[in-house]
Amino acid sequence: MQSLFDNGAKAWLGYADDKVCGLAIIRMAVDEAELLSLAVLPDIRQQGLGRILLNSVLEAAQKNGASTIFLEVAHSNTPACRLYGTAGFERVGIRARYYANGDDALVFKRALV
Ligand SMILES: CC(C)(COP(=O)(O)OP(=O)(O)OC[C@H]1O[C@@H](n2cnc3c(N)ncnc32)[C@H](O)[C@@H]1OP(=O)(O)O)[C@@H](O)C(=O)NCCC(=O)NCCS
Repeated sequence: MQSLFDNGAKAWLGYADDKVCGLAIIRMAVDEAELLSLAVLPDIRQQGLGRILLNSVLEAAQKNGASTIFLEVAHSNTPACRLYGTAGFERVGIRARYYANGDDALVFKRALV
């Protein structure tokens, strides 16, 4: 796992067999973090890398002073919604027809303790 830093944003690269196969990006502001992106290459999915990346993000956000993390995800994105649900996130809002395809965005929040 490798961390990249740039004024408030942090990025993590996930590796499998020495190749970059996943990415997570967060933005920090005061005591809040926002997960901007989390993705794993299609061929490598459902092997645990997404959860590893997410756990790295949660740990780093907490260590950097965040007490809460937010994210948005498409309502139809079952894999991501399940991942966040099993990682302790709770749904706190909805942005109707937020995405270009008309899908709603769900807003999730998790306390970092
Ligand atoms: C969401 C994503 C990052 C998950 O990565 P992953 O490496 O496949 O995830 P993991 O293997 O660590 O799985 C973690 C959990 O996610 C859920 N999950 C993953 N794939 C799933 C699927 N196809 N269907 C249902 N749940 C799924 C499960 O709860 C799983 O836990 P379990 O293995 O104990 O059942 C990946 O599907 C992805 O890159 N999707 C495209 C980009 C994207 O949608 N990012 C999220 C935007 S907010």
